[in-house]
Amino acid sequence: MTDTIPQLASHDEPALDQAFRTLATEVQAETAALTTPEAQENFRLHWLGRKQGRLKLISEAWLKSAPAEARKPLGIRFNQLKQQIEQALEAPASQKSAVVLGLDITLPGVIRSPGIPHPLLETMRQIVEVFHHLGYSTNLGPQVETDFYNFEALNFPPNHPARDTQDTLLIANQQSKPSRDRLLMRTHTSPVQIRTMVQQAPPIRIVIPGKVHRNDAADATHSPIFHQVEGLCVDTNITFSDLKGTLDHAMKALFGSSVKTRFFPSFFPFTEPSADVQISCIFCGGKGCRKCKHSGWIELLGCGMVDPAVFASVTEERRKTNPADDAYNPEKISGFAFGMGVERIAMIQHGISDIGHFYSGDMRFLEQFA
Ligand code: DAH
Repeated sequence: MTDTIPQLASHDEPALDQAFRTLATEVQAETAALTTPEAQENFRLHWLGRKQGRLKLISEAWLKSAPAEARKPLGIRFNQLKQQIEQALEAPASQKSAVVLGLDITLPGVIRSPGIPHPLLETMRQIVEVFHHLGYSTNLGPQVETDFYNFEALNFPPNHPARDTQDTLLIANQQSKPSRDRLLMRTHTSPVQIRTMVQQAPPIRIVIPGKVHRNDAADATHSPIFHQVEGLCVDTNITFSDLKGTLDHAMKALFGSSVKTRFFPSFFPFTEPSADVQISCIFCGGKGCRKCKHSGWIELLGCGMVDPAVFASVTEERRKTNPADDAYNPEKISGFAFGMGVERIAMIQHGISDIGHFYSGDMRFLEQFA
């Protein structure tokens, strides 16, 4: 390969520019064809070869004989050309063909946001975790439930006015069935208490997170579909003090150790006695503000000691498979239960005033939890 090097017309700047532009165009044209290792090697020898490489010949023909004042402008252009050749050899062949196809690597990249748990699910997970640390396990049940598990076994007799507190979405065409077998959308997670006890003898410590449904009109604090976490503890010698200590600990774990709890008399058909748990207002510290309606307290959940009538329903079911079953004899065991609304807790945690934000899918809302 004997390359001839053209004569330099002169050593002034325009002449040098012209001569090196011609060489750069040559290099560029050859670069596009460097798609195989052989082509790259030939290209390297052609330009950088120690004895007959073009750069060597150029250096001999142009640099050595140049007058002193032309050395610097020549040298700068010579080095630029050498860099161009070296860069062409550095870029892998695949990248070169991509450049040929028009990929512009200077364009901004595609931003991929990592996913996050939905704030409701995150709060549900936190609640469940507090009880896992106390030795509770998790149980789940169906959202389409029978009248028996949702109401009857929980001591809501058919046509009893206590049912009016949970406006129920019924599954159609169930009238031909006995009332206990009729299907409905569960109005609370409490039926899973019954399902668990029918399956399992004490001791029991479970939490039940899940979706529940009620025929309620949606407004800032209501949604026809919402979430609850239920709890149930059954063992020997379980007292109301155990219930108070457990829930006081759970509220402090969720809202901070300075939070106080108080237990207010209430009514649920499946607990006796029953209570509503209130926490000292986390917004004003108990002084009274708009959020706590100037009472200093926020009502958060229902609870109570499991009513013996519930243990009686469980025993009746268990005796269908084991007639001698006596695991839930209220003379031997006792228990407490509680149930809380996940939306309500998440709204208080984050200061959210409209429950609808949770279901809107609005990224401006959701991104705040990333
Ligand atoms: N199931 C009740 C509701 O949805 C909440 C509740 C209250 C659950 C007291 C309990 C309890 O387990 O003991 O309104």
